[in-house]
Amino acid sequence: MTRVIVCCGVGGVGKTTTSAALAVRLAKTGHRAVVLTIDPARRLADALGVELGNEPRAVAIDAPGTLHALMLDRKATWDGIIHRFAPSAEAAQRLFDNRYYKAVSTRLGGSHEFMAMEKLYELVESERWDVVVVDTPPTQHALDFFRAPDRVHRVFDRSVIGILVEPGKGLFNAATRKVVGVLHRMAGERVIGDISEFFRLMSGLSTGFRKRSRAVADLLSSDRSHYWLVTSASAPARADAVAFLAELEERELTLQGFLVNRVIPDPGELAAERPADIGEAEWTEWGPAFDALIHARRSEAARHRAGLAQLAQSSTHASVHPLPDLGSGIADLSGLERLAEHLPDV
Ligand SMILES: Nc1ncnc2c1ncn2[C@@H]1O[C@H](COP(=O)(O)OP(=O)(O)O)[C@@H](O)[C@H]1O
Ligand SMILES: [Mg+2]
Repeated sequence: MTRVIVCCGVGGVGKTTTSAALAVRLAKTGHRAVVLTIDPARRLADALGVELGNEPRAVAIDAPGTLHALMLDRKATWDGIIHRFAPSAEAAQRLFDNRYYKAVSTRLGGSHEFMAMEKLYELVESERWDVVVVDTPPTQHALDFFRAPDRVHRVFDRSVIGILVEPGKGLFNAATRKVVGVLHRMAGERVIGDISEFFRLMSGLSTGFRKRSRAVADLLSSDRSHYWLVTSASAPARADAVAFLAELEERELTLQGFLVNRVIPDPGELAAERPADIGEAEWTEWGPAFDALIHARRSEAARHRAGLAQLAQSSTHASVHPLPDLGSGIADLSGLERLAEHLPDV
């Protein structure tokens, strides 16, 4: 049975990098691992040494297991679903040509998360992997990943527009006629036609579509799926992390732990010493600046330590794992391997 590891967190904390490092760790410990990345930075693709696409590519790694990586392509994933559930190739093509579909598949709020789940399910279904690691789209709130499917479903559940454009359903009264009239004037006949056709075509797909969504939801709430929160040790990030923990619990999902990225280690007893090629006089100017730098670093390290301790207290079961800041060190696979050494076995 394929397991799922979901890396949640707000954008910019190193979520994609950490997801990749987790997959590296899994390969190193003998698993067939695949990482689904979302909007990876160019640098990460370079670090993995492969051109990332919508299908898994093998990453050359010295490990007892295997590592594959892919990058979510929202449009291609949508198209794949339509192909799968459309009653005929012709119906699928009509949707692809529909302008409202084009807008929905690229811009609809929540569609990013929805497609990530779809792709995840596809990977799990293939039974090619022991573990699928999922990076999640960059969001304001770590929980948007779970909220998104509802939003997408609302669009497909005969939305207001769906009713408006379907006369003869008893709702097409004077008031709605008026609204449709306004819409026509604003958007034009063709747009209304596109929307109307979109809902008609989609309703032909919706049974399969709905069943599939239910299966994805079941997978995500089963004990095969584990959740990790990627965060930083700074105070605002910690507050977010604690709120996330509470909401996850409300959904009866268990957080395995916190992956606290870019933690600054204590510089220790480091003191600014005058290098041999710098003269005494010059050093009297430079020395204090270096001392101040070391001091600042030491207080930041102390703040991070305090942050880690607070996180540890915020949950009885979630573990806390500090990951070091590697500076500019994640430019190749060995950088990811270094980060992976600090990750827990999952
Ligand atoms: N522990 C780390 N040490 C050094 N650089 C890191 C670390 N984690 C992430 N980075 C860098 O930070 C940047 C953002 O990381 P990324 O994983 O894309 O963040 P996110 O997915 O959360 O937006 C990348 O350039 C990445 O190489
Ligand atoms: Mg990212």
